[in-house]
Amino acid sequence: MTDSKLDKLKSLLPENITEPKSHAEMMKHKRLTENAFPHVRMRRLRQNDAIRAMVQENHLQVSDLIYPIFVEENIDEPVAISTMPGVVRETEKTLVTKMKEVQDLGIPSVMLFGVSHHKDHTGSDSMDPNGLMARMIDRAKQAAPDVAITADLCFCEYTDHGHCGPIDARKDVDNDKTVENVAMQAVIAAEAGADMVAPSGMMDGQVSGIRHALDVTGFSHIPIMAYAAKFASVFYGPFRDAAGCSLGHNPDVPTHRKTYQMNPANAREAIRDALMDEQEGADILMVKPGMPYLDILAKLRQETDLPLAAYQISGEYAMIRLAAEAGALEYQSAMMESLMAFKRAGADMILTYSACDAARWLSK
Ligand code: PBG
Ligand code: ZN
Repeated sequence: MTDSKLDKLKSLLPENITEPKSHAEMMKHKRLTENAFPHVRMRRLRQNDAIRAMVQENHLQVSDLIYPIFVEENIDEPVAISTMPGVVRETEKTLVTKMKEVQDLGIPSVMLFGVSHHKDHTGSDSMDPNGLMARMIDRAKQAAPDVAITADLCFCEYTDHGHCGPIDARKDVDNDKTVENVAMQAVIAAEAGADMVAPSGMMDGQVSGIRHALDVTGFSHIPIMAYAAKFASVFYGPFRDAAGCSLGHNPDVPTHRKTYQMNPANAREAIRDALMDEQEGADILMVKPGMPYLDILAKLRQETDLPLAAYQISGEYAMIRLAAEAGALEYQSAMMESLMAFKRAGADMILTYSACDAARWLSK
């Protein structure tokens, strides 16, 4: 740099910045003083598609998507879910067609949720090798061997009271008994052909319980996607209608899940809870719900090197779909923007009821 240029730069420096001592320091000061309009114009990199494409920081791909599927036993036809337009409860038969469609679209994984007609206090049907959970995993795997079957491990779809485990004398979910049961459920799921398990009950110690059970039964290769930070959210409403696990009709059990799912007001606790799952052997950490909790996702991204998943849950899907039906938003662009937001916040993969739609849009 010539002396006259240096002098010019020095003259530009605000008085309160001390005389730069080195060239590097000078350049830093130059940036401080010049990183502003009119030298900088942010719109230079926004002026056309080509330039915008080059500077795009995040990308959404079909391989980011996981598709949740509801499967109801003992029904003859798929049943529409009115609060989630476009989503149905599949029959055990139509699950096969749906799985083939998912495979053809190149979606890497599905998450299966059973809608049980065999409910009891513990949710024992889900621990039965001939029960709905085992059957739907087996069917899905046979129908679409290239699609990784992720088994959602929980009991609320299989218990008569709707909670995520058996109720104890304190009228609360029995933590350690549930961990024992979910460990068994994990082995049943793996035996049925699940490629990954995803415990969603928010019981303490569930990840290590499942890891141990899988390891001693020959399934040390099966990864665990932990619902690591799962909040007690009102946005699960449409799911609970869909899966038949709404609370509130039974006076003998709590009408909420606040003793195991997290308080939506807490961020530090979410990181602590998620990192505990990592310590217990989780392979992937999930944050749920998605859009109202992007801050948790972004924070967790800073704290761990594990892959992260975000769950765009039923209520979020419903908001976008129903707003679109009311003419307030356009479904495709609203959905794609929301999915990109998960990538930007740090998600490697996204569970979304729009996965099939998004896969079609992305392949065009
Ligand atoms: C059950 C479970 C829920 C969801 C996934 N697994 C509901 C709940 O915890 O009450 C929510 C999914 C959604 O809303 O899309 N453990
Ligand atoms: Zn549950």
